[in-house]
Amino acid sequence: MSHPDRFLLAGLMGWPVMHSRSPLLHNHWFARHGLAGTYVPLAIRPEGLGPALRSLPPLGFSGCNLTIPHKEAALAFVDEVDNVARRIGASSCIVVRDDGSLLATNNDCYGFIEGILEAAPAWRADAGPIVVIGAGGGSRAVVYSLADRGARDIRLFNRTFDRAKALEQEFGAPITAVSWEQRHDALSDAAMVVNTTSQGMVGEPPLDLDLSKLPPSALVADIVYIPRETPLLAGARRRGNRTVNGLGMLLHQARPAWKAWFGIEPQVTPELRTLIEATI
Ligand code: ATR
Repeated sequence: MSHPDRFLLAGLMGWPVMHSRSPLLHNHWFARHGLAGTYVPLAIRPEGLGPALRSLPPLGFSGCNLTIPHKEAALAFVDEVDNVARRIGASSCIVVRDDGSLLATNNDCYGFIEGILEAAPAWRADAGPIVVIGAGGGSRAVVYSLADRGARDIRLFNRTFDRAKALEQEFGAPITAVSWEQRHDALSDAAMVVNTTSQGMVGEPPLDLDLSKLPPSALVADIVYIPRETPLLAGARRRGNRTVNGLGMLLHQARPAWKAWFGIEPQVTPELRTLIEATI
């Protein structure tokens, strides 16, 4: 334990929060870097979010991550919202600055892209049409990051069409909202498919998506990582498509948080991945 003057603190605010793998991930890095510090799950009710965020500086926290249901609400309680968080309309990470002020940022986009590149290093966002399923909070980060990486044709499908249309209007080109019924046919020339809904998560039914028209070259991604292989990914793998689950997104979004909190760039190693996978 080499840090000289203070015990390093960060955590995850959520409600509920005890299911999270983030403490395991971050505390692995504290140990790996020989640092005195810890990352704690912080069970914060929605009505307590403002006071909880304001308590971070006096308690000596370097910052925190945010999960459901706090990602959007947190924007109202900070001193500054950076461009990425403002565009997405949600924050995944709060940074306590030297003067005690709070900055909201969002590293989910970075994590999503890095997770894809880790699994498919030659992947390009402009390789062809991308089908995105879902128009909730997860979708906002995914759609933003794909557009930011140069995607030219993002076809957005959501059970409730109006939410997809609202995202199209907000983000503009290259996003087109398409009716839910057309999602199966829209796969015929897709280079990539991304599930951003909760469908396929443990306890939820599989995503209703017929892959039979999907080209074998297409990449199929899911932001779900519990289970490690959703029915969507299992079906895609059986057809010979390359697949990526959401674990890479979880692991990689944590790296810029450490850079901002502690000035350290930790690595996503096979050892870390195995440690987290063993709990899933
Ligand atoms: P998150 O912030 O985690 O994305 P959310 O905002 O509640 O959560 O969004 C959940 C997404 O899963 C939405 O796109 C939702 O579709 P609706 O907008 O129609 O609700 C989608 N979803 C949830 N249950 C679904 C189901 N049974 N079939 C299809 N999509 C579903």
